Amino acid sequence: MTELTSRLLKDRSLSLEEYAALIRTFTDDDAVILAKEACRVRDEVYGNQVYVRGLIEISNFCRNDCFYCGIRRSNKKCDRYRLTKEDILSCCEEGYSLGFRTFVLQGGEDGYYTDAVMCDIVKEIKSRFPDCAVTLSLGERSSESYQKLFDAGADRYLLRHETADAEHYSLLHPTELTLENRMKCLKDLRDIGFQVGAGFMVGSPFQTAEHLAKDLCFIADFKPDMCGIGPFVPHSDTPFGGYPTGSAVLTCFLLSVIRIIHPTVLLPATTALGTILPKGRELGILSGANVAMPNLSPATERKKYSLYNNKLSDGAESAQCLDELKKRVASVGCTIPVHRGDVKKG
Ligand code: 5AD
Repeated sequence: MTELTSRLLKDRSLSLEEYAALIRTFTDDDAVILAKEACRVRDEVYGNQVYVRGLIEISNFCRNDCFYCGIRRSNKKCDRYRLTKEDILSCCEEGYSLGFRTFVLQGGEDGYYTDAVMCDIVKEIKSRFPDCAVTLSLGERSSESYQKLFDAGADRYLLRHETADAEHYSLLHPTELTLENRMKCLKDLRDIGFQVGAGFMVGSPFQTAEHLAKDLCFIADFKPDMCGIGPFVPHSDTPFGGYPTGSAVLTCFLLSVIRIIHPTVLLPATTALGTILPKGRELGILSGANVAMPNLSPATERKKYSLYNNKLSDGAESAQCLDELKKRVASVGCTIPVHRGDVKKG
């Protein structure tokens, strides 16, 4: 075991420079040791349970033009759709009977979903399914808007910070999007009372070990309730179509480190990880992840929510195939409970 790994095990945190050095120099042996410890910590906090969330991709219209994302507004080849309130409610209906008790409504930044429209949808879901949590993932909005959504009954909000380095952020996004505003949104969400999810891509273009070290320091400091991390996967109709896919090994290593530095975090084994490796989800769980988010979107629209090439939406990635997911989760010693799966506070 290298020295930084034993220091991490002892102190449960490292400095920025040390995280960067660990990311640059870790060995297979380090990865195995940290994964084992991450699973022990996860089991101590959450038992051997993997929480599931039904992911409903409500719209692929987006006003933003992020260089990595397949549903960016400049992608003229993207076949756009949006779901109505009734569509969304029937997804929830189906999800509820499958055993889901959290619905994640995710979409591009689509002006159709005004505060009034969204609040009406959230209220209706909460009144029809009072034992369920509603998570929103609709990008950057004003703090007044977040407050209205919270007052309407939304419980959680996912907004990946994408990278904690401002200069790197500016290389992934057009100038109108800033890390400063992204961080303000995350703080607003937390202050309002949401359970908040941040997160980042691994292996996005121009990313260095120092950038990832900053992501780890941000996670250790902000302590988001959730942290979505997955490999960058190129989408051919974006400016980053020619860049290489991020590393699954590094993604899993970072999952383990995050579990160790922030034990109570809800950590999904992401679709992107499942997309680049046939056993990606299982490896994510074996690295310390404890959440899976199968797709509950209408089958006719699923392929259109194409954030990156070959994005999985069938098999264990599909809510309708919860049995396959259960088997895969069981193969790594875990079970899937039927409840909301809230974060445990430390
Ligand atoms: N590869 C991997 N993840 C991506 N996302 C968007 N585009 C890609 C891509 N090409 C992620 C972003 C966003 C989340 C919804 O999907 O991190 O926050």
